[in-house]
Amino acid sequence: MTGRIPHHIAIVMDGNGRWATRRLLPRVAGHKKGLDALRQCVRHCGETGVKVLTVFAFSSENWKRPADEVSGLMELLAGALAREVPQLQAEGVRLHFVGERAGLSDKVRAGLVQAEAATAANTRLVFNVCFNYGGRWDIAQAAAKLAQQGETPTEESLGRALALAHVPDPDLLIRTGGEERLSNFVLWQCAYSELYFTDTLWPDFGDAALDEALADYARRERRFGRTSEQLAPVHRKVA
Ligand code: FPP
Repeated sequence: MTGRIPHHIAIVMDGNGRWATRRLLPRVAGHKKGLDALRQCVRHCGETGVKVLTVFAFSSENWKRPADEVSGLMELLAGALAREVPQLQAEGVRLHFVGERAGLSDKVRAGLVQAEAATAANTRLVFNVCFNYGGRWDIAQAAAKLAQQGETPTEESLGRALALAHVPDPDLLIRTGGEERLSNFVLWQCAYSELYFTDTLWPDFGDAALDEALADYARRERRFGRTSEQLAPVHRKVA
C-alpha cells in the first residue's frame, strides 16, 4: 500500500447473518467466519501502518436478537479471549474492550480484564472491541460522569469522559454489508470521519477489500471546515 494511511479505522462488520443464510448455515456460522475475517483484518492493519482499529462486535441493541444467536456471540467472545491473545501479543496489539460490562457474565468480564492486562504494554496497534456498546450510551455515560464530578459539559470535558477517550477520532469509518447507516456506532467520534460503504459481506472482507478502502481514503480531501485553497494553495499564473 502506498499513499496516506488512516491513523484510526472504525468498522461496522455487517453481513455475517446473510453470509451464513446464503449457504443455508445458522447465523452463528457467519459470526464464526466473521471472527476469521476480523483476525486477518487486525493483521493487515498492522502491516499497512494503521495505528488504531475499532470494531463494532456487539451493540447495546443486539440483545434483541434470538437467544441462540446472542449466546453464540457470547461464546465466540469467550473462546476468542481464551485463544487469540498469544497471537495478538506476538503482533504487538493492545486490546481494549469498550462498552457496558454490567450485562456480561462474570467469566466474560474476567476474560476482558485479563486480555487487556496481558496486552497492555503493546504499542504497534490499538485494537478496540466495542461490545455491549452504543454511541448514545457512551455520550450518556460521559455526561453522567461529569455530572457526578460537578464538571460543566463542554466539547473537551465530554470528549475526555468518553469510553474511547484513549484514542483520536476515527479517520475512516467502514461499513460492510451494503447498508449505509451508523447504527449507533461512534456517534460523537465520527463527526469528521470519512465514510466508506461496501456491499461486500463482512466474512468476505479480506486484504484486497481493505486495500481498496485505504486507496479510496487516500483520494479523499479532508477539509475540516476549511476550503480546498486553504489546504493546498495553488499558485495561479497572472496573464
Ligand atoms: C453484524 O452482522 C455483525 C454482528 C452483530 C456481530 C459481529 C461479530 C463478529 C464479526 C465476530 C467477532 C466477534 C467477537 C465476539 C469478537 P449481522 O449479523 O447483522 O449480518 P446481517 O445483516 O447479514 O444479518
